Amino acid sequence: MVSLRACVSKLGSTLPLLLVLWDLHYEGAECGINAEVEKQLEMGKKLLAAGQLADALSHFHAAIEGDSDNYLAYYRRATVYLAMGKSKAAIRDLSKVVELKQDFTSARLQRGNLLLKQGKFDEAEEDFKKVLQSNPSDKDEADARSQLMKSDEMQRLYSQARSAFLQGEHYTAIGLLDEILDVCAWDVELRELRAKCYIKEGEPRKAIGDLKAAAKLKSDNTEAFYQISTIYYQLGDHEQSLNEVRECLKLDQDHKECFSHYKQVKKLNKQIASAEELIQQERYQDAINKYETVMKTESKVPVYTTQARERICHCLSKDQQSTKAITLCTEVLQLEPDNVNALKDRAAAYILEEQYEEAIRDYEKAKELNDSDQQVLEGLERAQRLLKQSQKRDYYKILGVKRNARKQEIIKAYRKLAMQWHPDNFQDEKEKKQAEKKFIDIAAAKEVLTDPEMRKKFDAGEDPLDAESQQGGGNPFHRGWNSWQSFDPFSSGGPFKFKFHFN
Ligand SMILES: *[C@@H]1O[C@H](CO)[C@@H](O)[C@H](O)[C@H]1NC(C)=O
Repeated sequence: MVSLRACVSKLGSTLPLLLVLWDLHYEGAECGINAEVEKQLEMGKKLLAAGQLADALSHFHAAIEGDSDNYLAYYRRATVYLAMGKSKAAIRDLSKVVELKQDFTSARLQRGNLLLKQGKFDEAEEDFKKVLQSNPSDKDEADARSQLMKSDEMQRLYSQARSAFLQGEHYTAIGLLDEILDVCAWDVELRELRAKCYIKEGEPRKAIGDLKAAAKLKSDNTEAFYQISTIYYQLGDHEQSLNEVRECLKLDQDHKECFSHYKQVKKLNKQIASAEELIQQERYQDAINKYETVMKTESKVPVYTTQARERICHCLSKDQQSTKAITLCTEVLQLEPDNVNALKDRAAAYILEEQYEEAIRDYEKAKELNDSDQQVLEGLERAQRLLKQSQKRDYYKILGVKRNARKQEIIKAYRKLAMQWHPDNFQDEKEKKQAEKKFIDIAAAKEVLTDPEMRKKFDAGEDPLDAESQQGGGNPFHRGWNSWQSFDPFSSGGPFKFKFHFN
């Protein structure tokens, strides 16, 4: 006869919280076990206390092999299974314990708790009632009573949830199911019902969460994998969709819906992957063709068509087909105004078209949406620099002289152009305005390039007439025609007399 003490397991406080549930102090246990089995149990217990579950498990297996009627071995193995999250195996072992030792009320109570977690209300209640009918400890009695009430309450909530669902009150149903699932976390049906509610309410990602739990809780749950796969597919996540449908086919390779869905997703995945590879290789025209095939393979789910167009726009932009790129990106942006990729690609195309202001607008919008995207930040900076550069006057270009032109050449070129572009030569309002602008530029160019000091500054990359880069600023040449005119101290009413001497 082995002493009682040897049979009583004391679980260390280092064990997972779940195990704290286990009340291993029970009275009157008899342990008719041989030395070898006892050794296995002892080893298993130590490993379990150390949290080495897999090793503990193999010792309890061995103990049961040595003595298949040893309820204690089953009880401990159930503990390990539970710690491993294998609730079904734990329940199986607890059933064996209860069968071998009818008066082991703690084991029965534990089984009832697990059954309640699985949402098996009737079976759980049967256990709780049996505990109450036996001669339980005060604690077991109180627990069984409260669990019985809880189970009752859950059944009531469940019927409310179902009727809310049937009446289309999905959020009410979700609220009730949340409450039940707090207690019955392992109930597959509850998860699937909540997933249905989420889908009805347009929250597919939350539905996926529940369906994944349902697939884990119920082996052979092909339906859950199929649903997860189709939801991912609708969301445009074709890679996840393929992974999930493969799980379905692993369970049942003849599953009809999974198989036909698999063929479609696989085809689409392959085409998208090869299109992306072509983009990597900078074979943009081939990539465009491939994405056109993608749009044929899946023409009904908008996310794929839009994504294909976004990528084609990217290819066009990279391929310097800027007008086409702008058109296509604009179409994408009409559907998805916050599409950062389309904004970046259109901005790049605008730059090629020298439409810097438009490019800046796109980059700024993209920056609002994601201010940590380096491409956006660099693109914006570049577009701003290019805009500024485009607005700067190149005085040599204006006069059509080389950078090393001598003063005489500069004055000669100036005279010729000033005669040609004098605003008085033009009658048409628009032409006159253009001529005015030209004339200002020509005069400014002469001013700068004939003044050695100013010319030096300009050659150093600075505009000596640019108010911004000049301390004090306010050079008249940088102003508009009108303000320039009013500034003119020699003005005698005529439009332009000032400094108009051709000597
Ligand atoms: C912002 O852009 C960076 C770089 O492209 C990316 O890694 C990140 O996921 C983006 N953030 C958001 C919120 O889209």
